[in-house]
Amino acid sequence: MTYYDDLTKDEKRVTVFKEAISRKAHGITYDLGTGSGILASFASKNAQKVYALEINPLVIKKYAAKLLEEYDNIEILEEDASSYEFKEKADVIICEMLDTALIDEEQVPVINNAIKYAKEDTVFIPESTYDTIQVGEAKLSYVTYQEFGNRTFNSLSSEIKYNEVNFSRKINPNFEKDINLTIEKAGTINCLLITTYTCVADNLITEPTPMLNPPLLIPTNELQVSKGDTIIINLKYTMGGGLNTIRTNTKRVI
Ligand SMILES: C[S@@+](CC[C@H](N)C(=O)[O-])C[C@H]1O[C@@H](n2cnc3c(N)ncnc32)[C@H](O)[C@@H]1O
Repeated sequence: MTYYDDLTKDEKRVTVFKEAISRKAHGITYDLGTGSGILASFASKNAQKVYALEINPLVIKKYAAKLLEEYDNIEILEEDASSYEFKEKADVIICEMLDTALIDEEQVPVINNAIKYAKEDTVFIPESTYDTIQVGEAKLSYVTYQEFGNRTFNSLSSEIKYNEVNFSRKINPNFEKDINLTIEKAGTINCLLITTYTCVADNLITEPTPMLNPPLLIPTNELQVSKGDTIIINLKYTMGGGLNTIRTNTKRVI
C-alpha cells in the first residue's frame, strides 16, 4: 500500500469530504493538492469546471491522470498552489493539505495564496479547523504523531480548545499563545497532546482519522503537579513550517 492508497482507503476521511463536496461544489471549483484526484472526482458532478492542482508530476502521472482521465470538466495542472496565479476566480476551493495544528503541511501558505482569487461568497472545503491541548505523561524524547492506540499518553488535565483557523481569511502562520490549564490528576507533566478537529462544511465536523490529523505528542519540560494546580503552557510554532518549529514551555501559576 502506498501513501495515496492509504488516503483513498481511509473511509471516514473520504466519506466526510465526499458529503461536503457533494453538497457544495459548483461553478469554478479548485482542488488544491489533488494527489490521487479523488476529491476532484467528487466535485466533477456539480461543478461547471474543476481545476485540479498538484505539485508532484510523478503523482499526477501515477494517480490523478489515471483516475481523472474520463472526467471532461476536470483539468489537471502541475503547479505549486502556494504561488499559482488562478486564471478564474473561484466559486469553491477544496484544499486537503491538512496536518495536525496545520504545522507540517502546506495548507496555510496555499490558502493564503488562494484567498487572493476568492469572491465574497467563495466556499472553502474544509471551512476551518480547531485545535485542543491536554498535558500529561508519556515516554517520549521527540515530537511524534500518536498512531492510533500505539502510544501511551496519561492525561493529567482536561482537553481544552486553544486555537481556531478559518480558511476564508488570510492566516498568520506564526502561532504563539500562553494557554492556561487546570490539573485534574497529580503527576509529572512531560508531554503535550494536540488534537485537531476539522469542520469540513456547515456542521460536518470530523475528529482525527488514520490519515487525517493524527494527534501530535510534544515533549515539554518536566513539571510536578497536584490536582487543582493551574499551569501555563507557552506554545509556539509556524503553520506550514514543519514540526521542528515547535517550541514549548510549561510552568505552574503560583
Ligand atoms: C495530504 S495529500 C492529499 C491529497 C488529496 N487532496 C486527498 O485528499 O486525497 C496532499 C497533496 O498535496 C500535494 N501538494 C503539497 N504541496 C503542494 C503545493 N504547494 N502545490 C500543489 N500541491 C501540493 C502533495 O504532493 C499531495 O499530493
